[in-house]
Amino acid sequence: MTVSASLAIDPGSVIAPVNRRIFGSFVEHMGRCVYTGISEPSHPVADEDGLRSDVLELVRELGVTIVRYPGGNFVSGYRWEDGVGPEPDRPTRLDTAWRTVEPNTFGLDEFARWAAKAEVDIMMTLNLGTRGVPDALDLLEYANYPSGTRLSDLRRSHGRQAPYGIRTWCLGNEMDGPWQLGHKTAEEYGRLAAETARAMRMLDPDVELVLCGSSGSTMPTFGVWEEVVLGHAYELVDMISAHAYYDPETMSIESFLASGVDLDRYLGNVIAIADRVGDRIGSAKRLSLSLDEWNVWYLQRHMDEGPSLGWREAPRISEDNYTVADAVVVGSLLMTLLRRSDRVGIACLAQLVNSLGVIRTAPGGPAWRQAIYHPFALTAANAVGSVLAATVDGPGYATGEYGEVPVIDAVVTHDDVTGNLSIFVVNRATTSVGKLRVDLGELGGHQVREYVTVADDDLGAANTEREPDRVVPSPGIHARDGHRLSLELAPGSWSFARLA
Ligand code: AHR
Repeated sequence: MTVSASLAIDPGSVIAPVNRRIFGSFVEHMGRCVYTGISEPSHPVADEDGLRSDVLELVRELGVTIVRYPGGNFVSGYRWEDGVGPEPDRPTRLDTAWRTVEPNTFGLDEFARWAAKAEVDIMMTLNLGTRGVPDALDLLEYANYPSGTRLSDLRRSHGRQAPYGIRTWCLGNEMDGPWQLGHKTAEEYGRLAAETARAMRMLDPDVELVLCGSSGSTMPTFGVWEEVVLGHAYELVDMISAHAYYDPETMSIESFLASGVDLDRYLGNVIAIADRVGDRIGSAKRLSLSLDEWNVWYLQRHMDEGPSLGWREAPRISEDNYTVADAVVVGSLLMTLLRRSDRVGIACLAQLVNSLGVIRTAPGGPAWRQAIYHPFALTAANAVGSVLAATVDGPGYATGEYGEVPVIDAVVTHDDVTGNLSIFVVNRATTSVGKLRVDLGELGGHQVREYVTVADDDLGAANTEREPDRVVPSPGIHARDGHRLSLELAPGSWSFARLA
């Protein structure tokens, strides 16, 4: 059976310019993301800074633009000064978030060197769990003040003369979550975040600040939390955060493939709440949203793994082999982010390496691309210019989790400079081939230069160390009739077409 849908393209109906900062990612001191992930001094391809050059290469190819660091839950007990200065003087500590022994041989200076080589901006997270205003100011002085003060000169004595000029700062992490070290009520956090923001702006007026929203749409305090914390800090911050993880093992495949619909509703709700607070306090300013953690996460499977692992350095935490179905979902979540380009300021795929990683490594061995790597890399490379307000006309289907959702969905970007048109499509039907009829309208002269699809007869297929290219994009089938284009969509697939 074939499911058909149609899409009309009008290059004049623009939602917003593509925001390149939605192609962010996240490096946390969690599991093997840092140690034996991005950094492994004893690895045969480690560079002069002990950084894995194979991973750096994959990160650049992935097209990541900004990377959040150093946590995550980890940051809420982190003392940043433990991770700077001569290595022998750095203390080994216990990280209670992941029950891990933290050697602190990697810290801000190492991360900044890595970020420069990876060609990404830094998004720094502050510890507002066990710490507060004085430490935020200290870290900001160390990172961004040129010289002549204790902490800026300390940075210089560590070999970094010029300030880092880190612009983007998260005011804590998931402070609404009872699992967070130093978890706070909305009132407590709202006040602390406002005080911290005010102080940071006194030191460096150019910082861009992200306030913690809820850790997910299913948190019991979702909505109320945003209202309260924004009530305290609205005028002092630039963005409010949201986090979204989708666990394939907690729902049917039909619901799981519709995760992009859920994300769209969640983002819409956060934006509406933020705007309501803005209206209430009579502010002319509009906040952006920072989806600074999102991904597929087999969380249920790993729920009890922390305590059972004992206290170790760089244990394997949440290292799953992402499947074709996961890749289809990641591709469609990116489509949602593109469509929300007008209000999403930053988004970070969590995480970059090993723990929930889009890239995997073997200690002393190879690095490889997970299945979810491919839709991310293709979208980051080809979503250029503006997102068009194109709507798909086609059938829907019922899901247990999210009600009726479209079987076929598509997002279109158009680059005025090159003329390139990119079409990103998901077919959520797992047993039916899809057909998307595209009316190119005034772009009828455009020709298909590339049409690839991420699909497989086995939606559970994944890349592994032994078979790193089991899941790769493959050429898709398309046909042309005048200004109409027809794209064939494999069952349960994510596809991308580039026209020029
Ligand atoms: O990304 C993994 C964890 O998920 C982060 O540390 C935390 O912020 C979230 O709960």
